Amino acid sequence: MSNPFSLEGQTALVTGASSGLGRHFALTLAKAGARVAVCARRTDRLKELVEEIEAFDGRAMAFSMDVTDHDSIVSAIDGAETELGATRVLVNNAGTTVTKKIVDFTVEDYDHVMDTNLRGAWLVAQEVGRKMIVHGHGGSIVNIASMAGIHTVRLLSVYGMSKSGVVHMTRFMAQEWARYDIRVNAIAPGYIETELNADFFASEKGQEFVERFLRKRVGKPADLDGVLLLLASGASDFVTGTVIEADDGLSLVM
Ligand SMILES: NC(=O)c1ccc[n+]([C@@H]2O[C@H](COP(=O)([O-])OP(=O)(O)OC[C@H]3O[C@@H](n4cnc5c(N)ncnc54)[C@H](OP(=O)(O)O)[C@@H]3O)[C@@H](O)[C@H]2O)c1
Repeated sequence: MSNPFSLEGQTALVTGASSGLGRHFALTLAKAGARVAVCARRTDRLKELVEEIEAFDGRAMAFSMDVTDHDSIVSAIDGAETELGATRVLVNNAGTTVTKKIVDFTVEDYDHVMDTNLRGAWLVAQEVGRKMIVHGHGGSIVNIASMAGIHTVRLLSVYGMSKSGVVHMTRFMAQEWARYDIRVNAIAPGYIETELNADFFASEKGQEFVERFLRKRVGKPADLDGVLLLLASGASDFVTGTVIEADDGLSLVM
């Protein structure tokens, strides 16, 4: 029986691939056989990632993309298609956060988070979706939401609101694009250790916080491999419009 999680011969595009989850997602997809277009603003880091993928005979190319800039999104997606073939899998991962009390948020903080996490994710998925529709081959879009997009998390109001938008965007796109064989799902991770939060979890306050988690641990990017490959591949052919909460049960005690 062939491997239902295989991405052999498919092109995948990952945004926010220069660090943390996106970097790991790109490696995982390449190991599953995909040609991977890795996108972000820090292209020096992307080049290192491409070398790491090529070292195990995988295939990847780096594309500069700022998800707050529409022209940059279109140009990276066009470039990926020209160089690696039409995108069949999108991992819509680029994201940022501002951790503040609601009363301390500035308009600039608000716009920064919303423009990156919601407007950016929308523009990337819209552009990839348009191309999947034109090519008529279907595809899988995996939006990276967050536990904070479903449950309230202290000091993460605007971040949570942006991710809540990503969750609902997932459902709208799944509904509208089902007829084109495009599946759209989301992953809502709990706390995974990356550059975004490593300093906090290393601190005393961070360690105390983890003691309150159900399983008293922070995840590693590899803990999302199974969910990512499930949603990206044909293994989830009957699944669209869902959000998988991959949070180690944390939302049960938050
Ligand atoms: N780590 C967690 O615990 C956790 C939990 C739930 C959800 N998430 C979500 O997972 C995703 C990845 O987070 P992470 O923890 O891996 O954070 P990270 O290490 O800070 O990575 C964020 C990535 O997003 C990219 N990015 C940020 N702004 C961008 C922009 N304007 N244009 C293009 N790329 C941009 C960054 O690349 P450049 O700076 O090079 O452009 C970087 O590659 C985010 O959407 C985050 O909200 C993370």
